[in-house]
Amino acid sequence: MNPSTPPPPSTPDPRPPMNRPPLDLTVHTEKIVHGGQALARDDRFVVFVDDALPNETVRARIYKKKKKFAFGRAIEVLDASPDRIEPDCPWAGDCGGCSYRHVTYNAQLRFKKDVLIEALYGIDGAQDLVSDVVPAEAINDYRNKMVFSFGTTHDGDLVLGLHRRGSFIHILPADVCKLQSEASREIVRRVTALAKEMGIPAFHEIKKTPGLRTLTIREARGTGQRLVELLSTSADDDLAARLVADLDDLADTISFALCTNRHGPPRPEQRAILKGTGTIEEILNGRRFRIDPDTFFQSNTAQAERLFSRVNALATRHGRPATALDLFAGTGPIALHLAAIAERVIGVESFPPSVKAARENLALNAIENVDLIAADVNKALPPGIPDHVDLVVVDPPRPGLSPEAITWINRLTPETIVYVSCNPATLARDLKRFLEGPYAIEAVEPFDLFPNTYHVESLTLLRRTSTPVSTD
Ligand SMILES: C[S@@+](CC[C@H](N)C(=O)[O-])C[C@H]1O[C@@H](n2cnc3c(N)ncnc32)[C@H](O)[C@@H]1O
Repeated sequence: MNPSTPPPPSTPDPRPPMNRPPLDLTVHTEKIVHGGQALARDDRFVVFVDDALPNETVRARIYKKKKKFAFGRAIEVLDASPDRIEPDCPWAGDCGGCSYRHVTYNAQLRFKKDVLIEALYGIDGAQDLVSDVVPAEAINDYRNKMVFSFGTTHDGDLVLGLHRRGSFIHILPADVCKLQSEASREIVRRVTALAKEMGIPAFHEIKKTPGLRTLTIREARGTGQRLVELLSTSADDDLAARLVADLDDLADTISFALCTNRHGPPRPEQRAILKGTGTIEEILNGRRFRIDPDTFFQSNTAQAERLFSRVNALATRHGRPATALDLFAGTGPIALHLAAIAERVIGVESFPPSVKAARENLALNAIENVDLIAADVNKALPPGIPDHVDLVVVDPPRPGLSPEAITWINRLTPETIVYVSCNPATLARDLKRFLEGPYAIEAVEPFDLFPNTYHVESLTLLRRTSTPVSTD
């Protein structure tokens, strides 16, 4: 435990808020499941245990119980796994940011591979094709984006950090958070000190009283540039001026955003740029990308470079594609990579600011063989796509692809499909649909983009197995 940051009594564990005495069970765990919990079986139900590892005997305190399964948290480890280590963060086990601080890195990689293999159960031969997880070189200080929330302790102190696991109101201080750089931690410290000094409260999620909501820090690893945005329920010129003064040496661009809607997740409605251009520039495999506070950008720059290089390698395994589609294109990193191997690339993205940013990124890199279409991939075939393409790369968010999207992708009869997935469950569901296509899986390659968390990113290479039959 870090002596400089004792756990404040004001952020009590919300679990279990029970009137009855807590239910504690001694269980032996079997395996890790997606979500990072260890699965154990009691006579009555299956228990998913936070902070436990496979093959451990733990006393688990149940915090949620259904008829056939329950969720618990390891409160005592009676027989520990050799994969268990002493966590290097005072908030390990409580914070929603990391789930594997108590696990050796080798075991984290093993668990991620196991989770992917498990998800592919029932897909003929797929499980044998899963490679070892491509490890990250840096398991700390790797995130290029952090969004911290403001909260209030029970003592009334302002706190800035990450949500306690499973809680939308309890915030744990992020001044020691190892997922970010030291510069980012220093920004957190200075903004916390500034808000306290000026007596500015945090927005209260239940009472809906006005105040500060979030602090976004984006840090381009290729250029070292930093973007800071403070989101509040109300404008404050004095705070804005102090923010610029206090962060001048640490931030290349600073903005102050307003969110007057007090219900639902915090979203900027208006933005004042206080310093710089409102964007920073990142470099991925020599390509330049303009990054703003809102648009999606892979949060681990070093691993994203490896992932995108590998997309190109898999995409050209059977020759170079003439026409390639990049679906869920975001700000265009995959399209910009595919531009080097395909004659023509079409990116499809639905979020207008990302489409705009992608077009700017194409211009920034003087790339002329990529077009961007603003459309919803999960609906019908967007206009402007030819009847046949050679390659389709999909990189959907966690819900994966709609059945409609799989149908129209299939109709384009691409020889190769590369599926970039951040969710093994929806990947498995979508692969089953593609295999009816007819496609066969050639490779499944997990990448560790999120060390110390349970998240599993992967690339799957699909190859068309027969020539399409004309239905005309
Ligand atoms: C996981 S991100 C990938 C972005 C990009 N490939 C990258 O690596 O930076 C998913 C992207 O899909 C976009 N998106 C989500 N739903 C979509 C939909 N139905 N149609 C098109 N794009 C969508 C999001 O705005 C986001 O940019």
